[in-house]
Amino acid sequence: MLAVEKHYAVIGDPIQHSLSPGMHNAGYRSLGVDAEYSRFQVEARRLAGAVEGLRALGFSGWNVTLPHKESIIPLLDTLTPQAKRAGAVNTVKIHERQLIGHNTDGDGFVRSVEEDLKGFKGKKAVLLGAGGASKGIALALAEQGMQLHILNRTPEKAMELVQVIQHEGGRATSGTFAPGDWLEDADLLVQTTSVGLYNEPFPFSLAGISKQALVVDIIFNPIETIFLQEAKKLGCRTQNGIGMLLYQGALAWEFWLGGKAPVAEMRQALKNQLLQRTVYKG
Ligand code: ATR
Repeated sequence: MLAVEKHYAVIGDPIQHSLSPGMHNAGYRSLGVDAEYSRFQVEARRLAGAVEGLRALGFSGWNVTLPHKESIIPLLDTLTPQAKRAGAVNTVKIHERQLIGHNTDGDGFVRSVEEDLKGFKGKKAVLLGAGGASKGIALALAEQGMQLHILNRTPEKAMELVQVIQHEGGRATSGTFAPGDWLEDADLLVQTTSVGLYNEPFPFSLAGISKQALVVDIIFNPIETIFLQEAKKLGCRTQNGIGMLLYQGALAWEFWLGGKAPVAEMRQALKNQLLQRTVYKG
């Protein structure tokens, strides 16, 4: 049997629920790319060994997820501007024996809302949460010229993130989850915390939000969080986290293989996997 020409993977811990292998392999099949994408559970203490192993086995690149997005950096040879900006890596490519760290999370988010928002410059985005996910999204939106308001349970963390954005030349302010007029003129509202993963409501009212706002929750399982259900009831357009997952994967594909990723097939593969999961759960 002929060996597959290129090998890719995702490493993380836990990893068994990753939807990336299904998404990338469906993409390879649809375009006839001779490649295979696997997933590997890698404990934090084994990261250096795993990176050496992937290199020795001839992998062309891999995705990196929690908890390795920051700790992999010292193991790499160079970082792209996106990885430097985020201080985190979600995609690695081997090019001329060099390990290049890249980050497609923030730009993946930007691509996922681009069509709906129709332009970013001068528009207002409100972000709920100030963790790693929020940072990647915030920096990418600020680079597109959006004005940001970052709200977090722990206000100091939102203030720190605002400083990082300002340092990069972006415009941002911070606050807590208290109602304010920022809801009335938000063009985009993004929920980046883990609240909602277990069908719990977000501790914050959306009353008064502009109907023009696009509301995004980066959670994709459940498919529609209570937060998104409330936004929909108030007349807003909504998106779950599938778009961000899809486009971070599409950008990783393009970084590795060049050309355009087959986003329609990749999106369908994500949806199929999520539907199967819902059925299994009963
Ligand atoms: P990630 O990398 O997924 O963003 P993280 O860096 O641990 O994860 O950040 C988690 C985010 O979810 C933070 O903004 C956190 O708020 P705090 O900074 O106050 O901890 C937020 N978060 C988690 N649980 C929350 C809760 N029950 N209510 C409100 N915010 C919560």
